[in-house]
Amino acid sequence: MALSAAKCPSSSSSAAAAAAAARLSLGHPSLRSSTLLRPFPNSARARRLPSRSFKNWNLSVVCKQEAGAVPVSSSAEETPSKNVENGGLFGLSSEEYGHAIGLDASERESTVSITVVGASGDLAKKKIFPALFALYYEDCLPKHFTIFGYARSKMTDAELRTMVSKTLTCRIDKRENCSEKMEQFLKRCFYHSGQYDSEENFAELDKKLKEHEGGRLPNRLFYLSIPPNIFIDVAKSASRSGSSKDGWTRVIVEKPFGQDSQSSAALTRGLKQYLEEDQIFRIDHYLGKELVENLSILRFSNLVFEPLWSRQYIRNVQLIFSEDFGTEGRGGYFDNYGIIRDIMQNHLLQILALFAMETPVSMDAEDIRNEKVKVLRSMKPLQLEDVVIGQYKSHTKGGVTYPGYTDDKTVPKGSLTPTFAAAALFIDNARWDGVPFLMKAGKALHTRRTEIRVQFRHVPGNLYKRSFGTDLDRATNELVIRVQPNEAIYLKINNKIPGLGMRLDRSNLNLLYASRYSKEIPDAYERLLLDAIEGERRLFIRSDELDAAWELFTPLLKELEERKIAPELYPYGSRGPVGAHYLAANYNVRWGDLSASETT
Ligand code: BG6
Repeated sequence: MALSAAKCPSSSSSAAAAAAAARLSLGHPSLRSSTLLRPFPNSARARRLPSRSFKNWNLSVVCKQEAGAVPVSSSAEETPSKNVENGGLFGLSSEEYGHAIGLDASERESTVSITVVGASGDLAKKKIFPALFALYYEDCLPKHFTIFGYARSKMTDAELRTMVSKTLTCRIDKRENCSEKMEQFLKRCFYHSGQYDSEENFAELDKKLKEHEGGRLPNRLFYLSIPPNIFIDVAKSASRSGSSKDGWTRVIVEKPFGQDSQSSAALTRGLKQYLEEDQIFRIDHYLGKELVENLSILRFSNLVFEPLWSRQYIRNVQLIFSEDFGTEGRGGYFDNYGIIRDIMQNHLLQILALFAMETPVSMDAEDIRNEKVKVLRSMKPLQLEDVVIGQYKSHTKGGVTYPGYTDDKTVPKGSLTPTFAAAALFIDNARWDGVPFLMKAGKALHTRRTEIRVQFRHVPGNLYKRSFGTDLDRATNELVIRVQPNEAIYLKINNKIPGLGMRLDRSNLNLLYASRYSKEIPDAYERLLLDAIEGERRLFIRSDELDAAWELFTPLLKELEERKIAPELYPYGSRGPVGAHYLAANYNVRWGDLSASETT
């Protein structure tokens, strides 16, 4: 049974209209209770939508008044409040004014222009364009939209289309009408070549965007698929010369957001010179993964889970990320970051925060992010003795030699950068006091897998102790949320083996997504792009979350680097450093992914 409406195809148009309505109503208090918002019961979403346009709107009024362009009121005393009350309508062009007082946002069509800055990069080709196409295919994009690639290299529109078409092969190409849809999609893709720090080049882009927008209410989304050292240049040029004048402008940025607290704060300060916090959409693509999003549903909508979600019943929680390939090809990037910055400080910590947060007041973005920040700020400082680092070395198996991390030519010889890390973290609050949250992340391991494992305590005074032998830990319940691959949720229970005897075994109550749901699982980028278009911030990282995440890891990273701690070497394709087992054993924990039942 479907409990709620599917997100697409209808949602995008209503969201766009809601956005327009919200913008107008926010600018004009007398309209807040008007019929404009009525069709959109989720007024929380509408409330979330103030954008730069609104800010600019008021700002432009101030500037014009200062210049004496618009007579505001005969009474000087009345001026400021009246002006605010009027929602800053003075100073708009007659057309804008007409739009504003015409007030039927749904009558004024809007358009979204999506500019992928860094269009020829890997992320853009492999993830962003295919995700945009998938959204188009599913009718999730607004009726009027245009996609622009922006990068330094010279390219024609046709060349961009050819480049993009080569990567639109992910999950959609096997479906009906695919080539037709692809053709229609590609017709809406264009290219503009320019420097990242050139306001002039962004002004040229602006001109082209305007032509495509054709007088509709323009909304603009910039995806910065570029290295972080040029984020600020682009934010500056895009906001000064490429932002929408009376629609919203949003900018998506992708990690790494700095290397430590200091550099991250500097990046945030730099971006905020040109953008408001609510225009910045910091992506952590793990938050867009189906099972990560499902965490809150699992916990808060099932009576059987939430009461167990505390130190009283949970013995430990494990957050495990492993990849069965190394950093070949991106060693240069990786060597500046290492696995702690690449995976733990963001993907795994975000999952931890979602997992451990208190019940939010609502599913509104700010309510959820407030709770996540509380978790992050309640974490105990990480101790070096609670961390193990590793680096993969070359290994030959079945006649094939797999290279070690430092064999990569782009990695400096003798690099101490960890490709594996395990850590025990603790949340110092009433719910989680003393419960180890064990994280483990590694490259070039024996398998590719991301999962959350929740190991429960023993059943007190268990009647069946004798059947379990001396190792009671083996008989406790374990809930596994397998994020990827083969998405699944399963609960390990003790069960009687059918028959006349009394023998127990461990079995799984198993929800395997592929067997239960016929629909393909969308890529994380699809969900996140759609959310950014709709102004939904729930799955994006707020700046205080980012600060708290860096505050936790920065002292540890500094210590590791200053003391030049050597990582434990592990063979490519193995289960990682032995140190990780000792770390878990210190807290009486066994890694669930390495238990016999999971590895056979
Ligand atoms: C990225 C990391 O954020 O996530 C990569 O930089 C990693 O090192 C990747 O491989 C994993 O993402 P996914 O979605 O393939 O699990």
